[in-house]
Amino acid sequence: MATNKADRHIVITGFMGTGKTTIGRLVARQVKRNFVDMDDLIVERAGKPIPAIFAEDGEIAFRMMERNILEEIARTGGQVIATGGGALVADINRQLMKQSTFLVCLTATPDIIEARIGQDTGRPLARNWQDLLIKRAPAYADIPIQVDTSHRQPNQVAEEIVRLWQSSM
Ligand code: S3P
Repeated sequence: MATNKADRHIVITGFMGTGKTTIGRLVARQVKRNFVDMDDLIVERAGKPIPAIFAEDGEIAFRMMERNILEEIARTGGQVIATGGGALVADINRQLMKQSTFLVCLTATPDIIEARIGQDTGRPLARNWQDLLIKRAPAYADIPIQVDTSHRQPNQVAEEIVRLWQSSM
């Protein structure tokens, strides 16, 4: 775990369609850090796309891969990381990131989420996203720093996150 606050990872989480990857990349560029997308890492390690992991290995196997990566993240620092939308729903994962990283939860209004993920075939859980969002709402709400991405320019959102990060040190 990064002992110095300035060395902690900046971790961006939030529901599907809240803009984690887009914003994460911009934050990384602004603070001149390497960007890591957890879903990309999982795809690389599994050697297959996320829908295939869900279909062939099951969601539990996917969640275990997320868990392993989060344990690695908790031991290191210095990067900007976008999680998958469900990665911090489990209490144990969320507490681990709250303790060891600068953690931000992105939010967006339901109409924006629908517009961003409605037709997506790359997200196995996108079809029932409304129910999922209701079920997961308490988990996301448990993250102290919340940043809304609705009707805002990605660069403005990224700048806000960088400001929050700087004032957290
Ligand atoms: C998931 C969100 C996805 C991806 C997987 C499961 C979820 O990430 O990790 O399809 O459980 O919410 P994005 O939020 O980047 O789409």
